[in-house]
Amino acid sequence: MSIGSEDIKTGSKILIIYYSKTGNTKKIAEAIAAGAKKVENVVVEVKNTTEIDAKEALSADGFAFGSPSYFTLMSGQLLSLFTELFPIMGKLSGRPMVAFATGVGSQTCTVENIECILKAHNPNVIQPGLAAASPVKKADIAQGIELGEKLAKAVVEAKK
Ligand SMILES: Cc1cc2nc3c(=O)[nH]c(=O)nc-3n(C[C@H](O)[C@H](O)[C@H](O)COP(=O)(O)O)c2cc1C
Repeated sequence: MSIGSEDIKTGSKILIIYYSKTGNTKKIAEAIAAGAKKVENVVVEVKNTTEIDAKEALSADGFAFGSPSYFTLMSGQLLSLFTELFPIMGKLSGRPMVAFATGVGSQTCTVENIECILKAHNPNVIQPGLAAASPVKKADIAQGIELGEKLAKAVVEAKK
């Protein structure tokens, strides 16, 4: 069972951060959250890119970053967030991170694209991330749950 935010001092916090216009990427974000919540002593929050700032990011022990594939790349919204977080990216080094994307063919490129940014600042990027073809299917949700659990276990391990 996951813990409440009042217990965060003794547990770990994971932020699942995404941009989604038509809901596919959001479904994967929610699946990753569901998987992460299976792990003890973890509080999980799912947030849109606009709901995150540096202070909020610094409060988390692990992250998943997701976007639709736009022109094979990540969305401008996620790239803008990375630009905003750039000054504190070094401080997040060592905290487990994972990338996810949805698309109609270029989703793997987008995952790699996000991973490039993460890996420039952090050796603790869990790979492979999750690349799901739109529309998102049950099997993708299952993969998201699996990845979320893996992320949460890595976060707990990293805090030991
Ligand atoms: C402006 C725009 C550009 C896109 N470019 C690509 C692309 O280059 N490759 C791809 O696989 N899908 C592309 N897509 C499709 C989206 O990535 C796909 O529909 C995605 O799942 C949408 O995510 P969402 O439902 O979370 O908004 C594009 C969609 C839009 C609106």
